[in-house]
Amino acid sequence: MKNLIRLASFLLLSAILFTGCSKGPKITKENFGKLKDGKEVSIFTLVNEKGFKVRITNYGAKIVSIEVPDRNGKLADVTLGYKNAEGYEAGDHYFGSIVGRYANRIAKGKFTLDSVEYKLALNNGSNSLHGGPTGFHSQLWNAEVITKDNYPSLKLTYHSPDMQEGYPGNMDVTVTYTWTADNALKIDYEATSDKNTVCNLTNHVYFNLKGEGNGDILDHQVMINADAITPVDTTLIPTGELRPIKGTPFDFLTATAIGKRIGEKYDQLLTGNGYDHNFVLNTKNDVSVLAASAYEPASGRTVEVYTTEPGIQFYTGNFLKGDQTGKAGKPYNFRNGLCFEAQKFPDSPNHPAFPTAELKKGDKYTQTTIYKFTAK
Ligand code: GAL
Repeated sequence: MKNLIRLASFLLLSAILFTGCSKGPKITKENFGKLKDGKEVSIFTLVNEKGFKVRITNYGAKIVSIEVPDRNGKLADVTLGYKNAEGYEAGDHYFGSIVGRYANRIAKGKFTLDSVEYKLALNNGSNSLHGGPTGFHSQLWNAEVITKDNYPSLKLTYHSPDMQEGYPGNMDVTVTYTWTADNALKIDYEATSDKNTVCNLTNHVYFNLKGEGNGDILDHQVMINADAITPVDTTLIPTGELRPIKGTPFDFLTATAIGKRIGEKYDQLLTGNGYDHNFVLNTKNDVSVLAASAYEPASGRTVEVYTTEPGIQFYTGNFLKGDQTGKAGKPYNFRNGLCFEAQKFPDSPNHPAFPTAELKKGDKYTQTTIYKFTAK
């Protein structure tokens, strides 16, 4: 009898959550298309207490859209992405993706761990980028609707087999998205491996606070709580140096429009064709300290970033070139989106002086990153 009552209350709660007939937070699930191998993909809409929506797909555990108000309450979808699963499978640029096992580049696709050299697929000139061609962004994840602290939440899990893309160890990864009442999208990551391996996960969401497809991001005023970057060579691999940025076009301690200095003839801006660099955060892994923000003056929309990670890749969409059409049918041109990718430093496995990205057998990798939206 007790069990029956429990089952009935569970069914009632699920019905409320899924049918959306309640007021307040809810999650709905719909079909998002099919992959080439015939697998069905889903899309989940998380609605918070205020009625604002975030959409996430289980294909690559991607953020598909975030709709937030401007200072007058006008909504816009502030993330770049495609209309359906087919778009993402054929597309490029890692829009909204979870990236792993190793976000950003590993030089020559090689690293040595416990005296064994591992070789990864090269998918970016002479380097390995974002976990390789079949990295986590291109995998179908399991999705489970949960509620976390009374907020709508989606828990995505993926099992990465031993030696997938050349990385040692069976790895189990969990990414949980939680959409809070104050428009903060919290991303909690966990990973374990049955062999020593490396792990550096991130989310590659591109923001345009004017709304996706509405031009470039050069007017966005950016703040990054960092005193140094890890400069890169011409293949965008860190040289190993930690370069102080005070007085350079990379100094974003005071919020500055991206376009103000991006055209300067500063060596790292020329190498990156704009900003495409890992900033060494001052936040000491403290998720309660503001790590970065962007403010778009016309709409007043603002995104704040908080993270447990030691670095943020600030990327100004320098590889976008108008050949990708977004979900509303508009092309994504040069610098039409910006990314704040919370991460360990690029190529850490080949730079012992960088914070380690090693995940030891039996240990747990954890990360929390929050993107919080306001309008001023
Ligand atoms: C960024 C990286 C860029 C570029 C981009 C994807 O994380 O820093 O150099 O590869 O991803 O197009």
